[in-house]
Amino acid sequence: MSPRPLNVGLVGGGKGAFIVHPHQKAIHFDGTRRVVAGALFPDPKIALEEAANWPYPIKGYGSYTEMIEANASLPAAEKLDYLLIVTPNFVHFDPAMKALKAGIPVFCEKPLTVTLEEAAQIVQTVREKKIPFGVAHTYLGHWTSRFSRYLVRAGLLGEIRWVDSYYLQGWLATKLEDTGQQQASWRVDPKKAGGSGCGGDIGTHALMQLRYVTGLEVTDVSANLEIFVKGRPIDDHFTAYCHLSNGGRALVRASQISVGHLNDLGIEVCGTQGTLQWRQEDPEAITIKLMGQPDRVYYRGAVSPGDGFVPADAPADLMGEPTIPPGHPEAFHDAFARLHRCFEADVRKYQAGQAFACDGSKYANVEDGWMGMAFLKTCIESSNNKGAWTALPAKI
Ligand SMILES: NC(=O)c1ccc[n+]([C@@H]2O[C@H](COP(=O)([O-])OP(=O)(O)OC[C@H]3O[C@@H](n4cnc5c(N)ncnc54)[C@H](O)[C@@H]3O)[C@@H](O)[C@H]2O)c1
Repeated sequence: MSPRPLNVGLVGGGKGAFIVHPHQKAIHFDGTRRVVAGALFPDPKIALEEAANWPYPIKGYGSYTEMIEANASLPAAEKLDYLLIVTPNFVHFDPAMKALKAGIPVFCEKPLTVTLEEAAQIVQTVREKKIPFGVAHTYLGHWTSRFSRYLVRAGLLGEIRWVDSYYLQGWLATKLEDTGQQQASWRVDPKKAGGSGCGGDIGTHALMQLRYVTGLEVTDVSANLEIFVKGRPIDDHFTAYCHLSNGGRALVRASQISVGHLNDLGIEVCGTQGTLQWRQEDPEAITIKLMGQPDRVYYRGAVSPGDGFVPADAPADLMGEPTIPPGHPEAFHDAFARLHRCFEADVRKYQAGQAFACDGSKYANVEDGWMGMAFLKTCIESSNNKGAWTALPAKI
């Protein structure tokens, strides 16, 4: 008999919320996970109303504290197997800590917290409790991100010299927050977003893509956090020139004022033998450029190991991952589903008392979340110091 689907509780998601919806679709993707409860809004009365109006039945709670406390006395089949945190950045730390202390695994939106100190506390608690924790760096869930990681880390591009990792948007090119637009309003408030607006919101995705694909760490930055829209208290354009752990160099950049760019996340990795290019707006393909050869374009599901570039012994699990055939495009929701699927596997092992990975190879883990916060803190320090080269702290 199939095991029962995992029960997921939502923190945030009521009243016009954005990212909860791709998540909740992805949770239901495989039939092995389902959303059963939610504390959807800060006001308890509205939280309960929003839960009652949810598109399918869920148990509503007036607050996440209540939801976490109530969990202890629920029958085993109704207990939450993990919590999904989809609130603004300043409401990540408290529900995460409460859930972890109650022994509930957590899948949390990025950036992990609003301060490095909070991030460190979460890392400590995850380590003490030995419990699964994931950070929702969506784009790692594309098959092409997994494939890029394999190609680069296998050394097929040679030694990595240069990486350009970027996330460009134009939606904050005007003072959208003054119209009361929900997602803009809290993102430009340093108390709710953290010390960096654009860097925290999307620069962290660019950093994570670089780290995931190359396996390299940023060691030092010379950063500029800039505000182009007058009167905005927080950066809407973010540029970090980086030294990498192998001696290479990189640019991690993000912008919310680049008119015409939608969700233009991409990465270019240049090695001594070749270059890899990938863009999330065309997420099914990666381009490989080798010296003196025509470009190769690889599509998800249409790779033939032993073709003269991809080794014949390319990992079978990567090549044979069950998915829809190429040409039926996967995208954003599929990437989220792949993350939740992998998190589910770790949660099930944790529940069975088995060793679970949570090692950052399938989804970002708590140390990755901490590293995002360490990067932001260092970039803010560098920018406040006219872009002076500043070292990141040692890994936690
Ligand atoms: N991974 C990605 O690709 C991605 C994309 C967008 C947003 N995000 C992240 O997701 C988070 C949410 O962003 P969003 O754009 O969905 O924001 P949003 O404003 O659309 O939604 C936030 C939700 O949290 C609720 N909320 C706030 N405080 C709460 C509390 N105390 N208790 C319960 N609910 C509360 C709000 O009512 C709302 O329902 C942010 O951390 C953001 O950085 C990630």
